[in-house]
Amino acid sequence: MSRIPIILDCDPGHDDALAIILAAYNPKIDLRGIVTVSGNGAIDKVTYNALSICTLAKISVPVAQGSGVSILGSAEAATDIHGETALDGAPLPKPGFELSKESGIELMARLVRESSEPITIVATGPLTNVAILLKLYPELKSKIKEIVFMGGSASRGNRTPYAEFNIWMDPEATDIVLHSGLKLTMCGLDVTHQALVTKEVFTRLETLKTDLSTTIIGLLKFFAQTYNDVFEMPDPPLHDPVAIAVLIDPSVVSSRFVNVEVELDGKYTRGATVVDIYKREERAANATVALELDAKKFWDLMIDAIEAAGKS
Ligand code: RIB
Ligand code: CA
Repeated sequence: MSRIPIILDCDPGHDDALAIILAAYNPKIDLRGIVTVSGNGAIDKVTYNALSICTLAKISVPVAQGSGVSILGSAEAATDIHGETALDGAPLPKPGFELSKESGIELMARLVRESSEPITIVATGPLTNVAILLKLYPELKSKIKEIVFMGGSASRGNRTPYAEFNIWMDPEATDIVLHSGLKLTMCGLDVTHQALVTKEVFTRLETLKTDLSTTIIGLLKFFAQTYNDVFEMPDPPLHDPVAIAVLIDPSVVSSRFVNVEVELDGKYTRGATVVDIYKREERAANATVALELDAKKFWDLMIDAIEAAGKS
């Protein structure tokens, strides 16, 4: 079975942490490296969390620190959802290995340049690092197979009424990616809001009875509480692993190839993704947008990875 080489750009973050585990423990994915970007927390916190999660789950891949601010220089943390550490809810180990001496962009560029086959970039945080890579190293585009990103929405937002958090954090970066000419897959809120951590999911996790699954249950209980406090959602959506699952098994989602733009100037709508589902505009299609999720297939993949990680 040929494995899919990927670089994961993320802002751990509870759901990013589960995306790291799914990427590292599903046999179809070859996780080459992790790059961090500020989003759910400041860059130092999300980077610490990436190292801590890799230590906890015995994942040994290079981790490099990426951008701490958006292309225009702004930063905000989603502490209302992920907590002060950006990964509250359970005790986590101190990092058991050093952060890469390369910057996040340098690691991304090297991994793409040195790969014997085109690499997929999966982004589960703001697209700042990906956009900078494309602008600094346009010659590497031919070695990037596709970009799969968790972000955006064909309907409402979650950071503002119409903007999803990752896109809202760096609309200019999103615009660069959307017009890169690369193969793009968008996993927005439409599909990720179907990846709900239900009571049945918790029950399945509780049957695993490993130190790792116990830690994940603690993290997800925190995530569930904050999501309910903020969004009145009794079961929180586990957004980011969906962007990994679509690579493992494309039948996990149903999608449409349509035009996606990002609003840069809207007084009330900056950061909104404008997804032309019914092709009402003349603009060329540029992204495969996932819209429906096979939740059973998704959770089977996610829980299998947690089980495998807990036994490693
Ligand atoms: O809107 C959800 C996204 O924002 C997820 O990637 C979550 O981790 C946060 O980064
Ligand atoms: Ca994220």
